Amino acid sequence: MTILKLTAGAALASIIAVTALAHGGATGIVKERMDGMSALKNSMKTLTPMMQGKTPYDADVVRREAEQIGRHAGDSMTRLFPDGSGGKPSEAKPEIWSDWDEFSELAEQLHTYSQGLELAAENGLMVAGAGQGASMMGSESMMGGGSMMGAGMMDGSPDQAQMSDMPADAVFMMLSQTCSSCHTRFRSE
Ligand code: HEC
Repeated sequence: MTILKLTAGAALASIIAVTALAHGGATGIVKERMDGMSALKNSMKTLTPMMQGKTPYDADVVRREAEQIGRHAGDSMTRLFPDGSGGKPSEAKPEIWSDWDEFSELAEQLHTYSQGLELAAENGLMVAGAGQGASMMGSESMMGGGSMMGAGMMDGSPDQAQMSDMPADAVFMMLSQTCSSCHTRFRSE
């Protein structure tokens, strides 16, 4: 009986510990930015399967999530990284503050792509969802543009006008690459 109680107690304690450690026990502005990042992750969780054609495409949802991402990007993101806010439990690397221009540019890029995704939402997917896909693939209007396909592959980022002509998943790909580039460069694992 005592053992049982102890076991239950230990299990409960570990549940509490896990909950508290969700953000490594962060508080204040560090917790705030982790919450912002978690919101981004949630948006990506909705968008990723949709962009892969695994869940039905819904332009309204894409616009809503893109807007949500935009709300946590750019200045809204960088203002949560004040000087000296690194160190445990944060995973923010010191390079953020020594290479601030590069860091804030990536945050701004995320903002630009989120706006681009809002604009591109109505264009749907490059390979339009299973079923209507076949005819779309060969269509001149989809692939013939040249500029559309090339836009994302160039060194420079496409501008708003270019993105509004791109398939939503092409813009989404660039957006998600921005998450990874910044994490590779500025977040320790
Ligand atoms: C400009 C740089 C930058 C961009 C862009 C960026 N992140 Fe982050 N992200 C960070 C940094 C730095 C941390 C570590 C923050 C800390 O621990 O203080 C982080 C942490 C996270 C975390 C962990 C949060 C936690 O609870 O510890 C998640 C999840 C995350 N980012 C998701 C995303 C997603 C999804 C995107 C793109 C939609 C994204 N991030 C874009 C820099 C960025």
